[in-house]
Amino acid sequence: MNRKILAALGSAVLALSMAACSGEGAGSGGNDGDKPADLTIGVSMPTQTSERWIADGNSVKEKLEAKGYKVDLQYAGDDIPTQSQQVDQMITRGADVLIIAAIDGTALSGQLQAAADAKIPVIAYDRLIRDSPNVDFYVSFDNFKVGVAQATALLVGLGVQTKDGAKGEAKGPFNVELFAGSLDDNNAHFFFNGAMETLKPFIDDGTLKVKSGQTAIDKVAILRWQQEGAQKRMEDLLTSSYNDGTKVDGVLSPYDGLSRGIITALQNAGYRGAEFPVVTGQDAEIASVKLIDDGVQSSTIFKDTRLLAEQAVIAGEAFLTDKTPQANDTETYNNGVKVVPSYLLPVQTVYKDDIKPVLIDSGYFTAEEVAAGQAG
Ligand code: GAL
Repeated sequence: MNRKILAALGSAVLALSMAACSGEGAGSGGNDGDKPADLTIGVSMPTQTSERWIADGNSVKEKLEAKGYKVDLQYAGDDIPTQSQQVDQMITRGADVLIIAAIDGTALSGQLQAAADAKIPVIAYDRLIRDSPNVDFYVSFDNFKVGVAQATALLVGLGVQTKDGAKGEAKGPFNVELFAGSLDDNNAHFFFNGAMETLKPFIDDGTLKVKSGQTAIDKVAILRWQQEGAQKRMEDLLTSSYNDGTKVDGVLSPYDGLSRGIITALQNAGYRGAEFPVVTGQDAEIASVKLIDDGVQSSTIFKDTRLLAEQAVIAGEAFLTDKTPQANDTETYNNGVKVVPSYLLPVQTVYKDDIKPVLIDSGYFTAEEVAAGQAG
């Protein structure tokens, strides 16, 4: 063979092997030349019992569909086998990228292996998926800071600290009780750690007293973040630790759904008006925003699900076009196997005065929705 033919053969082999490689590994969800209409994104959400996940699911779907992609959106009713099955189906139906908010962060390793085998990139949505090498990206908020913000809101509500971080007038001692989320959700640990780091000095110096003595996360956690579970635990606390006439002054709650259960228990026990304990929250769910507006709940932490959905879409589109999504944190989220590159969004504390500027003026809710306590 002459040299020209050899060279031509060589470059053909090289081109072939490059073509083979370009379909490999994370980030290869789409095939070159595929139009958005040929690509499907599987979106797996945990539950429809909480309005935030409905908003998340809708936002992700709308934003992807606006770009022309097909979307396979499923809710799992907070049931782990259902979510596993739904993700399995997304894979067999040929999803090109998966966006998953896990119910149990450790329960999807099998599905994620199947996704990796099928070269489907996986984006963990808000909740980190643990114990698997096959998580390609994580979009969330700064979850430790959420916990710090919740504890700070409790201190501000009690008057121990001012909104600008200065020492407040109130000295205490105040009786507080602590709640955490579901232990199988990685976020629950970040929220609680952030909160406890902030509260510890005040517990240590006696400003805050946890009368029940329950300060360990496994004692204060509520399985599946259920409102009824929180109501039951608050009722039990009132019976066991506050039956001597002492009053609860504040409750650290990491999520609005839990806060509503806690508030119901407190109201049923006769707490009213000025003596109503300071109760924190998270997610700015509409029913809780109304409770804040009515002066019942003290605060919530607003996490703009529109921005989270947007980041998930940006990451998904990067994978579909063979690019690596841009992370802004490559240290914090070790899932037990590897550090997952993450994009973390900031959070905002909302007290009564912040409802208008933060939630209404930004178009997240209308004034009518806040007044009604119902969205839509
Ligand atoms: C967490 C999430 C919170 C809250 C909670 C209960 O994973 O970060 O914002 O929604 O689940 O749904």
